[in-house]
Amino acid sequence: MALTYTFHGHACFSLQGDGVTLLFDPFLTGNPVAKVSADDLNADYILLSHGHFDHVPDAAPIAKRTGATVIGTFEVASWIGNQGVEKVHGMQPGGAFKFPFGRVKQTIAHHGSMLPDGSNGGVATGFIVDIAGKRVYYTGDTALFLDMQLYGEEGIDVLILPIGDNYTMGPEDALRCVKFVKPKVVIPVHYNTWPPIAQDAQAFAAAVAAETGATCLVVEPGQTVEL
Ligand code: NI
Ligand code: MN
Repeated sequence: MALTYTFHGHACFSLQGDGVTLLFDPFLTGNPVAKVSADDLNADYILLSHGHFDHVPDAAPIAKRTGATVIGTFEVASWIGNQGVEKVHGMQPGGAFKFPFGRVKQTIAHHGSMLPDGSNGGVATGFIVDIAGKRVYYTGDTALFLDMQLYGEEGIDVLILPIGDNYTMGPEDALRCVKFVKPKVVIPVHYNTWPPIAQDAQAFAAAVAAETGATCLVVEPGQTVEL
């Protein structure tokens, strides 16, 4: 079965394949570019890259409504569990676990992870997810780092990465990340939500096309593409 990507705005997106829906970094409430509300989204699993307010706020309400399992660092998963979510799965970078839909490996990221109420969210992370015959690397919010080459050695089909700059990689470092990881498909996120992270995604896509072997998909909030 095909794997699809739906962008909800900022760094919130869904992957759907093999009858399973994975929702990443749910930030709909207060998200100025979101086209849907948290009440509209379904999920079997919710993956949280780190604890910041623009990544976690709708995770607990959606998990309570849908019965989804929430995956994050031990610290973030525990914080979600303390809000009455029954199914949480804590991990740490470098660790992988085989879920019914496929393997999830938590990756390192260079970024903060304080939770919205000031709780300690542990370290920031990304994920390498196997689903519907594809391997997807979502870097999460991060700086560029050379060890991205090691993740590229694992054979990445789809790379989802921030290009907004200021809080994360900007377009230049994101382009270097693409060269490190060598994916087939690149999808930029974490830009144009607020003025400090305004970017020209089409210019980034043109640079990816000119300088790498990857195809860059610029997906608008509310849009779904097949991977
Ligand atoms: Ni962040
Ligand atoms: Mn962020």
